[in-house]
Amino acid sequence: MIDPFGRAINYLRVSVTDRCDFRCVYCMPEHMTFLPKADVLSLEELDRLCGAFIRKGVRKLRLTGGEPLVRRDVMKLFRSLGRRLDSGELDELTLTTNGSQLGRYAGELADCGVRRVNVSVDTLDPDRFRQITRWGDLGKVLAAIGEAQKAGLKIKINVVALRGVNEHELPTLVQWAHDRGMDMTLIETMPMGDVDADRTEQYLPLSLVKAELAKHFTMDSSPERTGGPARYVRVRETGGRLGFITPLTHNFCESCNRVRLTCTGMLYMCLGQEDSADLRAVLRSSGDDAVLDAAIDEAIARKPKGHDFIIDRRHNRPAVARQMSLTGG
Ligand code: 5AD
Ligand code: SF4
Repeated sequence: MIDPFGRAINYLRVSVTDRCDFRCVYCMPEHMTFLPKADVLSLEELDRLCGAFIRKGVRKLRLTGGEPLVRRDVMKLFRSLGRRLDSGELDELTLTTNGSQLGRYAGELADCGVRRVNVSVDTLDPDRFRQITRWGDLGKVLAAIGEAQKAGLKIKINVVALRGVNEHELPTLVQWAHDRGMDMTLIETMPMGDVDADRTEQYLPLSLVKAELAKHFTMDSSPERTGGPARYVRVRETGGRLGFITPLTHNFCESCNRVRLTCTGMLYMCLGQEDSADLRAVLRSSGDDAVLDAAIDEAIARKPKGHDFIIDRRHNRPAVARQMSLTGG
């Protein structure tokens, strides 16, 4: 799949549920309304859609949410997609998780061929963790990370940088992650969906974070890319890798290789734009794979050049109305 700007699309992120057992302040309001079950694709439908994308050239799949591991029987989907690793149709199967259920699924995930897992940990302080996630239990997440490492999964820690919240803890988080052999990626808050909080208050540009971290660590810029939008540095003191995802201060769209599928079968060609293609309608109207493949081609032909995220005092509205939990982070 080649889009109108010559970018090869070989990476699909699939949100398998919009539900989550946390309510992170930058992601959801506390009283979040979730989608009716009938709107959400069945696991069989998700599997068929993933199969279509794999036929079209997708080599890397990431399951996200919401929280992917709260979806009932989600392991059936992992199992089925894992078989496509065995057959060589797929290079990588990964997930992004809040870690709440990772402890009990770690072994099974490894068994399905999952090698790398992204876990979100924005703070190492249990009270602050509760404040950010509203419902999360840090102890449980940290224990799950240990379980996952024991099962042989390589963990990358995602940290959303939040002004005045975890700002001063970021050097500690880097040291903690690297001491445990985990890469870490810092993410700027993106203006997606209504939350109860004020985003201009939460927004912390990573340019500032980097300047602050430079007081603690020597950061050697690194050409390494993992196929995602992060730019990496090597931290000399720890030997670990640190990534920066800066949608707002640095535009990374020129090398975008991905599209995103929601749990309702909407294909978003860009995280920061409203345009989508309704693949559920296609899926439910026809069992013919050729029809599905044609709908995917038509959508890829509409992939936009990039997003238009901005956060400042005058632009304190979400750039897109939907939550990150719908399209997957
Ligand atoms: N801006 C930036 N990151 C977000 N995440 C969720 N919502 C947002 C947002 N509005 C993060 C989660 C997780 C990853 C999937 O996306 O913390 O690390
Ligand atoms: Fe759940 Fe992730 Fe959103 Fe937090 S950021 S509420 S863990 S989906």
